[in-house]
This record gives sequence, C-alpha cells and structure tokens, in this order.
Amino acid sequence: MSKKWNLFSAVALSAIVLTACGTDTTGSTAKNGAEGSSDKKVLEMATSADFPPFESRDTAGNFEGFDIDLANYIADEMGYELKIQDMKFDGLIGALQSDRVDLVLSGMSATDKRKKNVDFSIEYNRSGEMFITLKDSDIQTLEDLEGKTVGVQLGTIQEDGANKIKEDTVDFELKAVDNANILIQELLSNRIDVAYMDKAVAQGYIAEQDLAGFNDPTTSSPGMAVAFPKGSDLIKEVNAAIEKAEESGKLQELKDKWLSEE
Ligand code: ARG
Repeated sequence: MSKKWNLFSAVALSAIVLTACGTDTTGSTAKNGAEGSSDKKVLEMATSADFPPFESRDTAGNFEGFDIDLANYIADEMGYELKIQDMKFDGLIGALQSDRVDLVLSGMSATDKRKKNVDFSIEYNRSGEMFITLKDSDIQTLEDLEGKTVGVQLGTIQEDGANKIKEDTVDFELKAVDNANILIQELLSNRIDVAYMDKAVAQGYIAEQDLAGFNDPTTSSPGMAVAFPKGSDLIKEVNAAIEKAEESGKLQELKDKWLSEE
C-alpha cells in the first residue's frame, strides 16, 4: 500500500468543505494572470478535489495530487503564483466559459464535445475506465450489469460512456452524483451496485477500501489535458511547460509518485 492519500479523510473533508462552501465558486479571479497581492502574477486554477490521486485535500485541507503538483510546476515555470479553487466537476467548464478562472486541471479528458466550449493543452496523462463493485459482488462482466444500478460522477465522460453502454450493450439504471467521493460512499452503503470511474482513481479506491472491479472493454477515452477559456493566451506557454516536464523526466517522476499501480 503506497497511496499518498487517505480515503476516509478525503471523504470526511470533502463533505465538510462541500457543506461549508455550498456551490460558492465566485470571488474575484485574475483573468489570464492579473496582478495579485504579491508582486507575482496570479494564475487562477479550478479543480474538483474529489479525485485522488489526481486531486484531493489532505486532513489539513491542503490540495494534493498529481494535477496539483503538475499545476505548481507549470505555474513555477511560467513565473506565476498559483491559486486553486475547489468546485464541483460539472461547474468547471462554466467557470472557464465565464472567465472566472484561467485554467482547469481536474483529470479532465480532452473530448471533442468539450472542445466546443473550451480549449485544451496537449495531453499529460492517459487512463481508462473501470467498474468498481463490492468485493463479494457477482458482477464481473459488462453483461452482469443488466438490471443493476450504476453510479457515475455528473458531467464526466463516464456519465456519457455509461449512457452509451446502456444504449448499445446492456440495460441498467444510471445514477449520477456530483462528487466522486460520494459515489464511493453510495457503493459502500449499497445504494448503487457499481461505480463507473477513471481507472487510476478506481484502482486507488479498490486498494484502500478492499473493493473489486473490472476494466471497461468498450471505451478508449481521450487523454487528460489542461482546459482554458477559448482563445486563452496561456495555452502556448502551458504546452511548453508540459513539454519540458515530459523531456526532463519531471512528468514521469510525478506519475511514479502518484499514479503507480499497486
Ligand atoms: N476523466 C473524466 C472526465 O474528464 C473524469 C474526471 C473527473 N475529475 C474530477 N476531478 N472529479 O470526465
């Protein structure tokens, strides 16, 4: 067991944070790096910190994870101070469209659908999809999903993917919740039979919670990328920083730190 995060603290904390903050995602934000309180330019980032090992909060409430380290690296390279806001995943695109933040790192897959509304950097990670069940579950293949309740996070590619599987392959009830930690709680308390999630995230939950799971054989999703408001002038510099991280081995170092399989 080498995961750098603790599910229970993440769940408890995100519940507290969500209750305390509601959907408050407003606040003055710098558009494309306006001056902050210090003399450093500020990069306003949004994320949905319910997605370890990409983004979560530690017991003290600090953001941590692969995306957080990568964002800090990118900001450093560009000479910006990074400010991070936590919001629901399905609010992130809207926050970019209304220019409330400069960029989003949230394990977000660079889909064609999203490209209509936001721009993306080059991809920085690729994953897959997995179905998670309780350990003693007899659901082990796609066909076994017939008549069951499958949970997904609202606004994710898994929500779209599950709808497609429903149309094409096997019929089940779909339940979308707006927080990935809550999705796991739903599974643990038998309110859903299966959670459908990003593979890297699923593997973490399976190990931490002694769950079971199987790969989705139907999809190959696009890689994760940084998202920006359409036409942002930050894209070039962010791409350069990601390329540098790739070439220098920094990206691999972060993958080894956060994404190595159990
Ligand atoms: N990769 C998936 C998507 O783009 C899920 C991302 C969910 N991220 C999160 N921080 N909850 O839809």
